[in-house]
Amino acid sequence: MRVGIVGCTGAVGEELVKVLGERQDRLGGVTQLKLLASAKSAGKVMDAGVFGPLTVEEFSIDKVKKLDVVFLAVSGSFSLKYAHEIAKSGPVVIDNSSAFRNDPEIPLVIPEINGHTAKNAKLIANPNCTTAIAAMALWPLHQKFGIRSLIMSTYQAASGAGAEGMAELEAQTRAHVKGSAPEVSVFQYPLAFNVIPHVDSFQPNGYTREEMKVVWETRKIFGVPDMDVSCTAVRIPTLRAHAEALTIQTWAPCSVEKAKALIDEAVGVQLVDDPSSNKYPMPINATAKFDVEAGRVRQSIVFGDFGLDLFVCGDQLLRGAALNAVLIAEFLHEDKFEKPSGYKPTVLQRFMGASLSGPALWFTVGAVAATAAAATSFLTADSKPTSSSA
Ligand SMILES: NC(=O)c1ccc[n+]([C@@H]2O[C@H](COP(=O)([O-])OP(=O)(O)OC[C@H]3O[C@@H](n4cnc5c(N)ncnc54)[C@H](OP(=O)(O)O)[C@@H]3O)[C@@H](O)[C@H]2O)c1
Repeated sequence: MRVGIVGCTGAVGEELVKVLGERQDRLGGVTQLKLLASAKSAGKVMDAGVFGPLTVEEFSIDKVKKLDVVFLAVSGSFSLKYAHEIAKSGPVVIDNSSAFRNDPEIPLVIPEINGHTAKNAKLIANPNCTTAIAAMALWPLHQKFGIRSLIMSTYQAASGAGAEGMAELEAQTRAHVKGSAPEVSVFQYPLAFNVIPHVDSFQPNGYTREEMKVVWETRKIFGVPDMDVSCTAVRIPTLRAHAEALTIQTWAPCSVEKAKALIDEAVGVQLVDDPSSNKYPMPINATAKFDVEAGRVRQSIVFGDFGLDLFVCGDQLLRGAALNAVLIAEFLHEDKFEKPSGYKPTVLQRFMGASLSGPALWFTVGAVAATAAAATSFLTADSKPTSSSA
């Protein structure tokens, strides 16, 4: 397979080179890898691991049209300008930017969850990194219990803002140690020794665009357009791997034991949950790992039997970008488009859920069911003489 990476010198692009190297046999063998970036990087020689040293070329449509798969890791405006044109010229395009994620015509894909939506697609969107990490841990729980609402708070690493974000945090940390003033250009304030509740631009509803991406994308990937989702996205001074506190309210009763078992069995998620030996997900352990770590699973004291709290941590440059993109290419190559079963709340659950929750909901469901059963047996008893006399 002939593969191209546009944006190969960036934070996501460099990870794409590494992931392709580690998994190259899965794509039926990568016979050609083309590295492309802006004019600034053209001519630079990059160590591409198993692919050897490769010279970076300046991007043009002509240079990618004979490839089979092209990964875009540049920017939304670049993708809007070129993605369709590249796809029309021949290759399948897997785009890491946010340009097409909300486009109803373009599949937004996490292969383990909704890979089937990528069937026959020439342009596929890779999800927002924050969303993808949470989705990996939530999907097995959603399939069993049905997630009715999700409340998320994030602790996002500097590398979420690209290679420049990482460099700025390192420079600010050095400046702080030397006692000099930190220089600020990527983030709104010094990030070193600080926490900034501002990721991406503010929207008219007071949420940031990053927070709204979690709302829009979780609904689209899970195929539940009316799921209640809210997020507070916060940048913290770690280099890599986002952490997220998740609270879910479920349609069906759930338990910590069952939730842990489901996470443990799920592909792409690792259960790290042993408070007695201080084991829980953390960025330093999740960094450079393919699996998302999930732990601190607790029965919610707000939603009782119908809710859980958990903490997840995942390398956003991998599961939230490079790894997920390569997994999409592998998924297309394997050509197995099975649709996974998702939880469907019953009409009664939805109806009652609008005004009731927890034990009250189940008491009411029981009462309605008992009334229906009594009415049925009354009607059946009443109708017997008529039918037997016919
Ligand atoms: N960082 C993350 O955690 C993350 C996660 C998920 C998705 N994403 C998305 O992935 C994309 C890349 O993010 P990043 O963090 O890797 O950014 P980055 O570190 O800033 O890298 C940007 C890359 O784009 C290249 N580029 C810029 N202008 C170009 C042009 N006109 N033609 C060709 N290449 C050009 C740059 O090449 P030069 O070096 O030549 O300038 C560089 O390789 C963005 O859309 C971002 O939103 C990022």
